[in-house]
Amino acid sequence: MSALTLSAPASLRGIVHVPGDKSISHRAVLFNAVANGDARITNFLAGADCLATIRCMQALGVDVHRNETDVFVRGVGLRGLREPGDVLDCGNSGTTLRLLTGLLAGMPLFAVLTGDASLRSRPQRRIVTPLRELGVTIDGRLDGDRAPLMVRGGALQGGTYALPVASAQVKSALLLAALGGTGPLTLTGKIASRDHTERMLQAMGLDLNVADDELVLHPPTHPVFPYPLSLRVPGDPSSAAFWWVAAAIHPDAELLTPGVCLNPTRTGALEVLQAMGAEVTITNERIEGSEPVGDVLVQSSHLRGTTISGALIPRLIDEIPVLAVAAACAEGDTVIRDAGELRAKESDRIATVVAGLQALGVTVEPTDDGMGIVGLGRPALQGATLATHGDHRLAMAWAVASLVAEGDVSVDNPACADVSYPAFWETLASLG
Ligand code: S3P
Repeated sequence: MSALTLSAPASLRGIVHVPGDKSISHRAVLFNAVANGDARITNFLAGADCLATIRCMQALGVDVHRNETDVFVRGVGLRGLREPGDVLDCGNSGTTLRLLTGLLAGMPLFAVLTGDASLRSRPQRRIVTPLRELGVTIDGRLDGDRAPLMVRGGALQGGTYALPVASAQVKSALLLAALGGTGPLTLTGKIASRDHTERMLQAMGLDLNVADDELVLHPPTHPVFPYPLSLRVPGDPSSAAFWWVAAAIHPDAELLTPGVCLNPTRTGALEVLQAMGAEVTITNERIEGSEPVGDVLVQSSHLRGTTISGALIPRLIDEIPVLAVAAACAEGDTVIRDAGELRAKESDRIATVVAGLQALGVTVEPTDDGMGIVGLGRPALQGATLATHGDHRLAMAWAVASLVAEGDVSVDNPACADVSYPAFWETLASLG
């Protein structure tokens, strides 16, 4: 898809069924692949990232079939993966690379994992160092800090590791490595991040103890574990956040996103929008499978600037590009701190978000671990030509900015949204 030029619609109203959650879709395939039995996953996110996970599991000898958003997985058990005949291509997906490396670290296999240029530029020492400490033979470029990574897995002896970064990918990689181990793994330190892995492993019958300050996983002692887990994947709050911000900043808007995952480790963006004064109504709260879910309605709002920092950051890390667009339209300043992790995402999201907002006529200053944004006090961004840097969340954040821009906004490489939201542009066109 070539560059797309967008102009602001007079109103923005409708119901948007956002696609299935990316984190849960990946995990549903990965974990069920090593379960003992068959599982059916519905509302699976058929975006490029999760399709890479399916292809990797097929390359490891697992029978995985997909029909649109329905996925069938015939689990091979914890000892059933086949050594892959070639390099495993994780595409743009950090979750595939890190979680799969962890899973394979506990298996008696040799594997090489790589991905696209963006993924190959992202830091991997965060998983390589603890896996080495747990006795795994693992290496990669820059002494293991960059993919391609090669792993020669084996039974881990267990141990204790204090997580230095709040990363669900690192936490999950280590828990998966321990599944094939001979002793318990204890994780301490920064364990507060999205907890879908913990919820799903527990639902699959694994002995995982979750406390505020530590996680303890005992590898299964009986081959019946893990049980397969059929589930419906709830809507992705990181995708819904584009519509929440769109509705909040547009002067004539009302958007309903039904069935969105409201797991408290994922609701940071919604809470920040509420603190900024957004008109948010949550209804029909329920539990689906292992996850809280609800319907979220957002209406045109007058937003105020805010501070986004500390423990909130891991709960909204992927939503920062679009929250920055909300902040640009708000009254007063917004400060984003403690978010140095943004520099290690699909693009350096501090540099790329700041450059895009500046092009939209916003006064914004980057810092080492965030940015300061001077709100315009009204939704009146300037038309601009914006770069996505191949980063799906930037492409969609810039599309949201275009909804309130006074001139046309042109976005290069809109197709990169496919990574997490294949129907995004179609939905946008249907609303505008
Ligand atoms: C994810 C964890 C987060 C998030 C990513 C998905 C996951 O990354 O940014 O989009 O599914 O575990 P980190 O673990 O690097 O924070």
